[in-house]
Amino acid sequence: MVHQFATPHGVVAAARIPDAPDPVPDDVLERLPGAEADYARTLRGYRQVQFVGGRIALRHAVGQLGMKCGPVLSTPRGAPRLPAGLVGSVSHKRDLAIGMAARDNGWTLGVDLEDFEPARLSIASRVLRPAELADLDGLPDAQRWIAIVQRFSLKESIYKALDPYLQRYVAFEEAEVRPDLQGSAEVALHLAKGEGPFEVSSRYEWLWGRLLTSVRIRPRQDS
Ligand SMILES: CC(C)(COP(=O)(O)OP(=O)(O)OC[C@H]1O[C@@H](n2cnc3c(N)ncnc32)[C@H](O)[C@@H]1OP(=O)(O)O)[C@@H](O)C(=O)NCCC(=O)NCCS
Repeated sequence: MVHQFATPHGVVAAARIPDAPDPVPDDVLERLPGAEADYARTLRGYRQVQFVGGRIALRHAVGQLGMKCGPVLSTPRGAPRLPAGLVGSVSHKRDLAIGMAARDNGWTLGVDLEDFEPARLSIASRVLRPAELADLDGLPDAQRWIAIVQRFSLKESIYKALDPYLQRYVAFEEAEVRPDLQGSAEVALHLAKGEGPFEVSSRYEWLWGRLLTSVRIRPRQDS
């Protein structure tokens, strides 16, 4: 069962996947394009389930754009390699896989899905910059956790959208994120190697009790 909806960044497709490490049945693998199915057969357990779920969702999103794509393998850095003319991104958590796709109009795309359980407030100091931590000062724990997940997830989406440009590990302190109350966020990049400048557009929304974020990035046009 795949559910889809449009966002200003692209089409999102969400596929329910089994929250279990059992092998993906052959009749499901056979529906993937050849090289993608061959790769999926090399994977085991949850990794196989998540890869297949992510590719089913991504292909569904591409189809909703009125486009088609053959096998989507991964770049050496792990990103989904889409054909020319398309950009896309994948995220999966337990029983849900998300694929997001858009026509390539100069923006790269990153998507991330996060659970709110269990709360791990202690990650804040590892993933947030001092100014972000200051924004959370005084919040009760429940709100604080939501604020941490928002920033964490937006950074994961930023990481994925930046990857085609930077092709390197980007640390959490290299982005500062300030979500507003309307489903978007202000993002300031502090890239360690001074790359850019980039234009960043970011969104967040709740999806079945989880948080879905997406980010698109392009080189700044006025530079
Ligand atoms: C790569 C990373 C972002 C993946 O996030 P995750 O929460 O572990 O897993 P998700 O389910 O959300 O995403 C997994 C998908 O990410 C995609 N992905 C993996 N590496 C990627 C990369 N370098 N660039 C873009 N997308 C990538 C893949 O599509 C993968 O799914 P697939 O292998 O089935 O195709 C994360 O593990 C990571 O290494 N983060 C680095 C630190 C960071 O986020 N810094 C923030 C800087 S601002």
